[in-house]
Amino acid sequence: MDEWNQISLSVDKLPKKWYNVAADLSQPLPPPKEPESGPSRMEFLGKTMVGECLRQEMSAERWIPIPEEIRELYVQAGRPRPLYRARRLEKKLGLQKVRLYYKREDLSPTGSHKVNTALAQAYFASREGKTTLVTETGAGQWGSALSYAAQLMGLNCVVFWVRAVYGWKSDRRTFMKLLSATVHASPSKETKIGQELLAKDANHPGSLGIAVSEGLEYASEHDGCVYSLGSVLNHVLIHQSIIGLEAIEQFKMIDDEPDLVVGCLGGGSNFGGIALPFAGEVLQKKRNCEFLAAQSEAAPNLVKGEYRYDFGDVAGHTPLLKMYTLGHQTEMVPIRADGLRYHAAAPLVSALRHSGLIKAVAYPADERVVFEAARSFFQTEGWLIAPESAYAVKAGIDEALKAEKAGEEKAILMNISGHGFLDLEAYRDKLGIP
Ligand SMILES: Cc1ncc(COP(=O)(O)O)c(C=O)c1O
Repeated sequence: MDEWNQISLSVDKLPKKWYNVAADLSQPLPPPKEPESGPSRMEFLGKTMVGECLRQEMSAERWIPIPEEIRELYVQAGRPRPLYRARRLEKKLGLQKVRLYYKREDLSPTGSHKVNTALAQAYFASREGKTTLVTETGAGQWGSALSYAAQLMGLNCVVFWVRAVYGWKSDRRTFMKLLSATVHASPSKETKIGQELLAKDANHPGSLGIAVSEGLEYASEHDGCVYSLGSVLNHVLIHQSIIGLEAIEQFKMIDDEPDLVVGCLGGGSNFGGIALPFAGEVLQKKRNCEFLAAQSEAAPNLVKGEYRYDFGDVAGHTPLLKMYTLGHQTEMVPIRADGLRYHAAAPLVSALRHSGLIKAVAYPADERVVFEAARSFFQTEGWLIAPESAYAVKAGIDEALKAEKAGEEKAILMNISGHGFLDLEAYRDKLGIP
């Protein structure tokens, strides 16, 4: 088996439970808080979000059963997804002692890991009799995933899409519209916060924090609507744990294990998804492993942020969450990997960063080196990855070269959070391809 570069789990090995690292933290996760003034944000969320997701949000259970209907949707969407050994990239890098692996979340109907929680959230929303899912999106991957999940479950989908990206990803826009979604460039005229921001700057580039505010406001004012968040919150990371749980089984099949797990991090859903099941076993003293989150200097929430309570959105509709944050109203320059441009990191990831288990690195906002890493990956492994995933690959390569130079034997696992088939404009721009 270990001669093959692809390590595949059979469908009957698809995990039956999601993992919740909150059960294994050495101290309880700091709970969400109400701000000192204004209306209750908890009550607001209670009315605006899917009930089952909110229950999972507060759960300290280690294992949460995955309903059979969702497992069936996961299989329809191509799960379990393979793990690969990057032998061709290893060869190009001249690695003798370091083994590189990658998990294939790009092999997804909409192109990223985001379907793992989109399907769960859409399923729970339809079971609760909701008619419409409302959301934010940055890269467009989350909006695509939720449009797809809503369509499969017979729900409508309304997407507020960061204007800076909406403008240039016209193919992703078509993708969402093919799935019957209504897509607004954010800030938009659909909401009060959007109107305020557009009055100040008619070409406002938007941000994920603004798009979240718009989505929450819209969902709260339209009957049958619920708000679905694509990252940051505990229930999202719980759904994404399917990535790491599969990877744990795949490493058992080849009798190897990662010494380092690397993922890109915007809000923390793909990083949390791959890292937290492994981190849980570290916390339970069942394995040794390190964790590295790769970010942009445009939004280095784990690298330069403060660990404190902050809002999850620009308008302050959410409760306060304890997380590494740059400040919920901080302006961040648009980048091509716009899914990484969020002011704060998930509370679960932040808690583990604070305890020293997770490390982070940020790459320059001109993105040249990460796109070059993605090109090397494409030219050796043959897979064109999303701009966001390029950060994980860049960090994986850097760590591999460092270990090799130090003569260390090491296995490194990178998460490929998405494919780049709809990101060719970004590749053209960053690599100067005419
Ligand atoms: C392909 C891909 N990877 C990573 C991210 C970053 O988000 P998160 O940190 O929640 O995984 C995004 C966000 O849009 C994305 O589209």
